[in-house]
Amino acid sequence: MAPSPDPEFCDHLVRITVTEGAQPDDGEIALFNAIKNRRTDRSAYFMEDLPRDLMSGCRDIVESAGASVLFFEDSASVEGIANLVAEGDRLQFDDPSFRRELASWIHASRLGSGDGMSGSGFNMPDVFTPAAGFMIRTFDIGSGVAAADEKKILGGSPALALLVNPSDTAEDWLNTGRALAKMLLTLTSAGYSASYLNQPIEVAALRLKLAKIAGVSGFPQILLRVGRSAENPGPSMRRKLSDVILT
Ligand SMILES: Cc1cc2nc3c(=O)[nH]c(=O)nc-3n(C[C@H](O)[C@H](O)[C@H](O)COP(=O)(O)O)c2cc1C
Repeated sequence: MAPSPDPEFCDHLVRITVTEGAQPDDGEIALFNAIKNRRTDRSAYFMEDLPRDLMSGCRDIVESAGASVLFFEDSASVEGIANLVAEGDRLQFDDPSFRRELASWIHASRLGSGDGMSGSGFNMPDVFTPAAGFMIRTFDIGSGVAAADEKKILGGSPALALLVNPSDTAEDWLNTGRALAKMLLTLTSAGYSASYLNQPIEVAALRLKLAKIAGVSGFPQILLRVGRSAENPGPSMRRKLSDVILT
């Protein structure tokens, strides 16, 4: 894999060449088999300790992809991070252009749009999806979202995971994406779920505060809740392969 092959065209991130190679090992086969089962699961998780070997497995796999991951389970860190997520919710929903953009990605799956998020991704019947989009677009529901996120972090998230890079270039983002994919598949293959809490990374001022709480000198890239879930969310919508792969 050659990163950033074309400095003149910044949308061209990577060139992947498929060649005949070594047989995949058992770990790679487990990750491959987890692809069809992985879901973003936004439900509350069981409040039980995460297995230590699962955390060290995630650390190894994330480091092999050029990033690092820190886990937070102690109440001081988790409460500090939950406050930042809630602050991020309030700031983002206060901004009409953020609400418009988010609403533009909310599509009922029965309409067959092929991308975006439907109500079922939020444990809501698909038929309520248009109403959810209307609410997001029209009202500042930031305080309600903040309270719900804080409750779910404190009462339904045994661990938070933060992916970090020492710098913040396009190559770092690409490596974070590779690391994230491998970590999510590692969790799935062990029967664990994850969902995103990216508000304090998307709001620049909160990103600095997050780095301080996490005690890192690098750049926070992705913040996740991790745990075991009683839910089994259905697959989200996907575009057709022919729409996303040019040959
Ligand atoms: C880099 C990245 C950031 C994301 N950030 C958020 C987020 O802040 N909040 C959220 O609810 N979902 C977030 N998602 C999850 C996507 O909404 C989700 O992947 C998409 O709906 C497809 O669902 P699936 O993961 O179940 O296949 C993020 C996904 C990625 C890859």
